[in-house]
Amino acid sequence: PEQEITLHVNGVAHVLNVAPWVTLLDALRERLNLTGTKKGCDHGQCGACTVMLDGMRVNSCLILAAMKDGAQITTIEAGPKGAEGAALARLQRAFIRHDAFQCGYCTPGQIMSALALMGEGRARSRDEIREFMSGNLCRCGAYPNIIAAVEEALA
Ligand code: FES
Repeated sequence: PEQEITLHVNGVAHVLNVAPWVTLLDALRERLNLTGTKKGCDHGQCGACTVMLDGMRVNSCLILAAMKDGAQITTIEAGPKGAEGAALARLQRAFIRHDAFQCGYCTPGQIMSALALMGEGRARSRDEIREFMSGNLCRCGAYPNIIAAVEEALA
């Protein structure tokens, strides 16, 4: 049986009916048409599906939507409003300035992870940034530029 849930995504409430096996990733992409969040591996290995869920970063492919009724979710489609939006815009500008992508597929997940790091609100060494971002894989190998972009946004 489907269950009715409400997801607050980027400040907008969406009511939807989901089967128990629908992941948060599929709910975002296929039900709400928010395709900025990417599906890479679909089993928690690549970080392409990273979103903010109630203030924590998660791999949305590992979360069942039906268990998150009422959750607050931020995706790469969030606008520049509020403190989180300002941090997101700052990260996006830094990624562009540092050319921190090649194909761009991992970029939304990279940026959402970096947003979680910014939310913690303190400066980080390059090694700490690398460690924090280590769950977000980039098959193009753009890591040096990604780390440089995050470092700049955190400074
Ligand atoms: Fe979720 Fe790879 S798609 S971690």
